[in-house]
Amino acid sequence: MFGKRSSEDQATPTPPVTPAVQAPVSPALTGDSLPHPAPASAVAPLVQSPAPVAPAPNMVPAASAHAAAAPTPASGQAKKSEEYYDIKTTIFGALIDTIDLAQLAKLDAEGAREEIRDIVNEIIAIKSVVMSIAEQEELLEDICNDVLGYGPLEPLLARDDIADIMVNGAESTFIEVEGKVQDTNIRFRDNAQLMNICQRIVSQVGRRVDESSPICDARLPDGSRVNVIAPPLAIDGPSLTIRKFKKDKLTLDKLVDFGSISPEGAKILSIIGRVRCNTLISGGTGSGKTTLLNCLTAFIDTDERVITCEDSAELQLQQPHVVRLETRPPNLEGEGEITMRDLVKNCLRMRPERIVVGEVRGSEAFDLLQAMNTGHDGSMGTLHSNSPREALSRLEAMITMGGFGLPSSTIREMIVSSIDVIVQASRMRDGSRRITHITEVIGMQGDIITTQDLFLYNLEGEDQNGNLVGRHMSTGIARPHFWDRARYYNEEKNLAAALDAADVMDLDTGV
Ligand SMILES: Nc1ncnc2c1ncn2[C@@H]1O[C@H](COP(=O)(O)OP(=O)(O)O)[C@@H](O)[C@H]1O
Ligand SMILES: [Mg+2]
Repeated sequence: MFGKRSSEDQATPTPPVTPAVQAPVSPALTGDSLPHPAPASAVAPLVQSPAPVAPAPNMVPAASAHAAAAPTPASGQAKKSEEYYDIKTTIFGALIDTIDLAQLAKLDAEGAREEIRDIVNEIIAIKSVVMSIAEQEELLEDICNDVLGYGPLEPLLARDDIADIMVNGAESTFIEVEGKVQDTNIRFRDNAQLMNICQRIVSQVGRRVDESSPICDARLPDGSRVNVIAPPLAIDGPSLTIRKFKKDKLTLDKLVDFGSISPEGAKILSIIGRVRCNTLISGGTGSGKTTLLNCLTAFIDTDERVITCEDSAELQLQQPHVVRLETRPPNLEGEGEITMRDLVKNCLRMRPERIVVGEVRGSEAFDLLQAMNTGHDGSMGTLHSNSPREALSRLEAMITMGGFGLPSSTIREMIVSSIDVIVQASRMRDGSRRITHITEVIGMQGDIITTQDLFLYNLEGEDQNGNLVGRHMSTGIARPHFWDRARYYNEEKNLAAALDAADVMDLDTGV
């Protein structure tokens, strides 16, 4: 069992309101745990002191950043009784009074769990709480999640099938599974507890979120991307959005299995990746852009030097010669920001053969196009837009707004001479993700950029379950614009074979 804790362990990751308070504070009231100076083996009664606690979060030691939260409602799917929460509150209070969180943090997850299990069992015995074994196990799980992890979020974080977790205040949490958004029974005790969990997450990357800086991006240790927006900006309580990191990234073969692309379409994409077409992947939020970019990078040769620039490292390139770069937001004083543009510009001094930009959002578009134009063939990036044509106009808008003072005709020419292919990803209304266009940028007619679709997803209807039915079809173009490039890389036979094998759309009827 753990001994009494020392005072420097008492910092908790809450917004700075007052200096760290040394008085024991009830976790039930604040959502935090502060040690009650009880002897290690004693089980102290719950102390109901409402004092707020608040050191600067970037001073939070790792130990307490991971420790402590208040009893939480419903971390499973079934709603639990009031009695359960009362018991949990009592036991949780006693536990927090007893353990030394700093010591606990030194143990590995299993060890810490074992330690908590022993103490909780002892508390249950001392307090003569009547519980079945199953209830005890459930209680123990809940308590461990609160003390060691992210409270009610833990069961969601543990699931691999969830793509996004969206917490809209303490009362409402949605998840996205298989492309569909669903409600859950996950509830936080109150907004203060939710805010504490948000704070704990962002303090791990040295940030803080409170009224004075209510917007914050962070990352979980597993690589999941996190955004927090807190009151007063979020009117109904802190809003927490997590894009879960998928360890096993999807491959192009898997996308074929899911029907996201036909085998012929996948073959064409692989050739595009291999023969160094400069490629933009366009799509809405969560449409599968990053996934697709990752798939395309699989066809980069192992001897190429690739530099990736991302806001939050998600790509998993398998090649041996990869340099991964990540942007940095400003620190608490608003200094030290490294933007995507800084990274892309710096990339050019690093002798890259290809540059891969996770998401093009702003003036870095100019540098990426320049890179594509100056011998870094096969560079790639994603961009947020709903169609290949819109992607082109967004790209132009990004460069215009970057303040380079270029006339629009020059920007368009630059786009035409840089981008070879745009691949469009979409999340359809039935939740499925599909590649809807493989489109080439081929030239200018007057001051309009001309494009040609090679491959399209043709929607044919809906089955009785409401799932969309359709086919990927070639538009009948036998010699894509990148034919010569394919020939240069000895891929023209494969390209011709893939185009021949595909269903061909009748362009008059669109079927
Ligand atoms: N073709 C697909 N089929 C099924 N799930 C997919 C597909 N593409 C992506 N996903 C899943 O969708 C989620 C969002 O994908 P991501 O590539 O991060 O989207 P974006 O970068 O467009 O926001 C991830 O969980 C990913 O695994
Ligand atoms: Mg993405």
